Amino acid sequence: MRRTRTAVLISGRGSNLAALLAAAREPGYPAEIALVVSNRPDAGGLGHAAGAGVATAIVDHRSHAGKPAFEAALQAVLEAARIELVCLAGFMRLLSEAFVERWRDRMINVHPSLLPSFRGLDTHARAIEAGVRIHGATVHFVRSDVDTGPIIVQGAVPVLSSDTADSLAARVLAVEHRIYPRALALVATGAATVVAEKVVLGAEPEGAEARCLIWPGPA
Ligand code: GRF
Repeated sequence: MRRTRTAVLISGRGSNLAALLAAAREPGYPAEIALVVSNRPDAGGLGHAAGAGVATAIVDHRSHAGKPAFEAALQAVLEAARIELVCLAGFMRLLSEAFVERWRDRMINVHPSLLPSFRGLDTHARAIEAGVRIHGATVHFVRSDVDTGPIIVQGAVPVLSSDTADSLAARVLAVEHRIYPRALALVATGAATVVAEKVVLGAEPEGAEARCLIWPGPA
């Protein structure tokens, strides 16, 4: 089976990276994590890559004079590794429209809210503040407006009256770890494609379950 060469871009602890690495170890998983790129030399997630024997690259934004130079370096490491798909997983740099367009429909992101609600930062505190009863996470194709783009998979969790931003974040993170590998598989197999800026699932190997997860969902 041909596995899609995938890079994961991180800036921090890399728990979503760990979930993707674990999924990619399963026989039959359609993507290979061929490269992990961090813009921070001290990102904890680099340890997950090393533990899995996956190549890493540091492209430190602080060592490049401006975004074009940083993104050119990023593009160079992706091309050198013959990367076909990019997963953003806690990658904390805003990417230019030119870079996003270059990877159009080949770059996906996980965001800790049910988009289009709560784009941006501090999503859990804002969900509690807004009083929503249901919160969650989204994996979507990346577009140049931050936290927008065709939605691939979402997962929902309840918001409990006892929740703090931290307890809610932990519940959502567990869902992120379930939906990100699923979304990557859908994209890598070509089952998820973009038509008129919406994701269409062609062959649905897991039926409707493929596109949404209600916490805690089936094991
Ligand atoms: C996750 O909550 C993700 O949704 C957001 O940043 C966080 C990254 O966490 N974009 P980790 O580095 O994957 O543990």
